[in-house]
Amino acid sequence: MATNDKGIMTIRGSRITGWGTALPDQIVTNADFEARLDTSDKWITERTGIRERRFGGTTASLAAEAGKMALKSAGLVPSEIDLLILSTTTPDLTTPATSSVVQDLLGTGGGAFDLNAACAGFVYAMVVAGGMIKMGTNRVLVIGSDTLSKITDQNDRSTAVLFGDGAGAIVMEADPVEDKILSYDLGVDGSAMPILYCNHGGYMTMEGREVFKKAVRVMVESAKNVIEGAKLTSDDIDLVIPHQANLRIIEAANQRLKIPMEKTSIVLDKTGNTSSASIPLALAAAADSGRLKEGEIVLFCGFGAGMTWSSTIVKWSKE
Ligand code: UT7
Repeated sequence: MATNDKGIMTIRGSRITGWGTALPDQIVTNADFEARLDTSDKWITERTGIRERRFGGTTASLAAEAGKMALKSAGLVPSEIDLLILSTTTPDLTTPATSSVVQDLLGTGGGAFDLNAACAGFVYAMVVAGGMIKMGTNRVLVIGSDTLSKITDQNDRSTAVLFGDGAGAIVMEADPVEDKILSYDLGVDGSAMPILYCNHGGYMTMEGREVFKKAVRVMVESAKNVIEGAKLTSDDIDLVIPHQANLRIIEAANQRLKIPMEKTSIVLDKTGNTSSASIPLALAAAADSGRLKEGEIVLFCGFGAGMTWSSTIVKWSKE
């Protein structure tokens, strides 16, 4: 907390003021995989909840499209942005950072950098943005963009059916009245690296069942940490925005947290697992359909390769 010129403690918090999304045009259905791999719509739907996903675009082009929409929704022009954080696991180039390309496409002001915490990256980026705002930054454009189709072996049924491409973005702005980020929890267990990784130039390798078990465990622990950190209980959560990897993972975590599925935003049936993009895509779906009301309590919860995890509780307030 900062003090003003009279020595009185002042709050410099943050809130979400805009959001946007981008999905490539090409829709790949479960039937498309059924036609060429030893799999079925039934297996994919029952084991994952995924029915279709999108393929195409570059990480930068999708990020810029989502970012542009988020700026419009916040009523800002690009030069009013002081910092751009791009969460991605699939940068278009090794260097420079993909955020440089996005900065040029959008014309944002201030600095820009990429952040990679795999599928937990978007919430990591939200927390970093909140910290930067506390340090004096006014407006941060936070984007999650991934083109996982490029690092997925499309002939391997155990991974091909799971992943898709897309982007989502939010604008976070300084809030002088109240910090709408009530608590956060970031974590990593690097010893779990071998269960999900991708070498340079290669394809993702995953021990699905192991990732599944650990994902449920870390999501529940992390969510409990932020609920407790915000001095709330599960009953106070109005909406969960979880990483969208597998419907069964979300159901198992919700069950353990005693949060009903009706209070959860799900987009994975239409998007597959889009890594960094999945949480902002699910947020935008909820916000656009009027599911988020002023003052409601939103739990964001991510996990991914690393193994990383990240949660935050936000009091929803656009105004
Ligand atoms: O963002 C984080 C990244 N990843 C994740 O979160 C993924 C976490 N893991 C999962 O979502 C699930 O473990 C999977 C969806 C990957 C797999 O589901 P599962 O219920 O854990 O299945 P399994 O790996 O235990 O495999 C069961 C069977 C196997 O056959 P056998 O050994 O029982 O004969 C697999 O070979 O299902 C088979 N299988 C498939 N069958 C049809 C695996 N993939 C497919 C497929 N179609 N696409």
